[in-house]
Amino acid sequence: MASVQRMSALAREISEKTDIITEYLRSKGLDAASFDVNGLAEFPIPPEDEAPFKARLDLAGATKELFDISVGPKQGLRDLGWECTNTLSLQAIWEFRVAEVVPLEGTISYEDLTGKVEALNSLPIGVLNLRRLLRHAMTNRIFCEPVKNQVGHTRTSQLLLENEPLNNWAGFMSHDLWLPLANVVNAMRKWPASDEPSETSVNMAYNQSLPWFDFIQQDQELAKRYNLAMKSHGGSSGYSIEYVVKGYPWADLGDATVVDMGGNQGYVSLAIAEAFPNLRFVVQDQAGMRTAETIGTVPEHLAQRVKLTTHDFFTPQTEFAKCYFLRMIFHGFSDKYCIKIMQALVPALRKGSRIVINDGALPEPGTVGYLEERSMRTLDLLMQVTVNAREREVDDWTELFARADQRYRVRRVWKPERSAMSFIEAEWTGE
Ligand SMILES: C[S@@+](CC[C@H](N)C(=O)[O-])C[C@H]1O[C@@H](n2cnc3c(N)ncnc32)[C@H](O)[C@@H]1O
Repeated sequence: MASVQRMSALAREISEKTDIITEYLRSKGLDAASFDVNGLAEFPIPPEDEAPFKARLDLAGATKELFDISVGPKQGLRDLGWECTNTLSLQAIWEFRVAEVVPLEGTISYEDLTGKVEALNSLPIGVLNLRRLLRHAMTNRIFCEPVKNQVGHTRTSQLLLENEPLNNWAGFMSHDLWLPLANVVNAMRKWPASDEPSETSVNMAYNQSLPWFDFIQQDQELAKRYNLAMKSHGGSSGYSIEYVVKGYPWADLGDATVVDMGGNQGYVSLAIAEAFPNLRFVVQDQAGMRTAETIGTVPEHLAQRVKLTTHDFFTPQTEFAKCYFLRMIFHGFSDKYCIKIMQALVPALRKGSRIVINDGALPEPGTVGYLEERSMRTLDLLMQVTVNAREREVDDWTELFARADQRYRVRRVWKPERSAMSFIEAEWTGE
């Protein structure tokens, strides 16, 4: 009977949480997220409105559990086995740029749409093939068929058109990482327990020997897609840059320079610089990430305080600063390489220098909500796919610094509320 009780409890929870959300929305005259073509792409509930914000996360967890129970273990496992077809239909839509040729208003027949998709791609695809891919994607609410044989946009398919980072995220995951994902186990057999970034499923899938970042820099298209995909990831709930801006006491650094190591195109530093006028930023990344086009993206009013430069963080740091900031860097490397990065920083450190890390800290299993747990576990797997690295638990961070150099002292590790990432703050106790 326990399962029957659980179903009833979940149904009650779902009803209660839905009430909290809908009452909040009604009181503000707001709508819920919707797949209607002109609907809201996400709930208009800011994290500061804690009760409805949390209710939505709880609702997602509870509906998922009730859904799983109603499907049952047997069918659930069978369905899980073919979930990869979700990636297939998404990949085809992204690759063939279907969203571009479906009208934003009204619908188009499969025959006409196939003609347009074929012309756009200079490739015979066939009505049947396109139709079955689209009808599968529709089960994920990507496009709709309101009248038989007529295809229209949903809010989700429309996002592929209007949200460039999200479109690149879809392409990066379904196109660039798909073969690697299918080769993780093969790579584990070929290079058992490897912590080398050039012995990954990406090396296996693309039959090449470069580490991930060198590999993507060889291909401008891929590098651009990766950058935009990261931007989209940075924009998702829990990874909002707001948690970086508000989650660390930046003002306490005073008039200081922050070196943002592996800072990509500087979008995190730019956001912090906007909020803290006393800070200057040196955003370091690899040369391949610095094109005239991207350097030009620093807004004029911040150009004096935010500089995009190049530096390989495995080589001795030459920029002297009060604070070294590394966001989403260490989770990209195995311990061996994290220690190298920490050691290469030492020549620039002076007593009291701060090292501020903003990165994942894995929760204990089952201690956070479903969406957060799932996202952290997925990220942890993806770290293995591309770079043979991992997410870390709180204690792992202290151990890592100690192994790099005993003169590092971890001051504290904390996770700003609602943030998916933690801050790890260390200081240099040497001279
Ligand atoms: C996951 S991204 C994180 C970007 C940024 N810090 C953020 O929070 O969005 C990792 C970044 O590290 C950079 N990177 C990788 N290897 C590097 C190296 N050896 N030296 C400097 N940057 C590197 C990559 O180009 C990429 O921009």
